[in-house]
Amino acid sequence: MSTICKLDELTSGEAKKFTVDGTPVAVVRVEDKVYAIADTCSHANISLSEGLVWCDSLQIECFKHGSAFSLVTGKPDTFPATQPVEVFNASVVNGDVVITRGGAQ
Ligand code: FES
Repeated sequence: MSTICKLDELTSGEAKKFTVDGTPVAVVRVEDKVYAIADTCSHANISLSEGLVWCDSLQIECFKHGSAFSLVTGKPDTFPATQPVEVFNASVVNGDVVITRGGAQ
């Protein structure tokens, strides 16, 4: 379990990159909820946190080739990526953003 920042340090609709247990993680705030998925695209070595966040569908789009990954399941819904990325449990505890390994696959 890692406390990575305050919720106030994140902007709704944007992703920020952190390192959790040695793994780069894209942490996304949507309103007052937080989501965390592995930051490296499953298609190539590209940082997902540099892509656009789709708040309505809870997805993050890889800026390189446009695959959109679910912030909930880690699965891409568009080619060229076909493999999911790891999802982490993310929650807000007393204003702190807490990330733990072991989210949905
Ligand atoms: S590198 Fe992400 S879709 Fe190609």
